Amino acid sequence: MSGPLEPDKIVRALRAAHLHDASRVELLQLACDRLRRLGAPFTSVYAYMLRDPGAGGAEARELVLEAFSGRETEHTRIAVGQGVCGTAVATGEDQNVPDVAVIGNYLACNLETKSELVVLIRRGETTLGQLDIDSDVPAGFSEAHHTAVKQVADALAVLL
Ligand code: SME
Repeated sequence: MSGPLEPDKIVRALRAAHLHDASRVELLQLACDRLRRLGAPFTSVYAYMLRDPGAGGAEARELVLEAFSGRETEHTRIAVGQGVCGTAVATGEDQNVPDVAVIGNYLACNLETKSELVVLIRRGETTLGQLDIDSDVPAGFSEAHHTAVKQVADALAVLL
């Protein structure tokens, strides 16, 4: 069952945790847990963060899974440009994919996932990472879902 979308409550919980010195990973875990607790269409929630470029420059950047809630995934590191997640970073655009089966470079975690929403965590022009949400519901994510997740991502961008 889908509960009410109340991103404000999640943002307040994140701010309270930050005031109590929650670590970066604890904040990401809280965001994943609270979003997943909203219920369908939120089946699994993953926080992938961009690793510092280092010597390899921008092309060497990759997303690293720092927290998740729901099904485990084998994709703990994703190169920029790969899959729906890497495409979001490469294009600088959030991705709302109603049918993952038609995505050519989709990185499948399981056979149950039907749709996926990736929302970037950005501070100004800088992309810090993303919230990646898998849904067992076909075309699971509406514009309201996108907006709600973006509120959480924007809060994380300030607090991390
Ligand atoms: N499906 C993603 C990979 C991450 S898993 O869904 C957790 C992609 O295509 O980038």
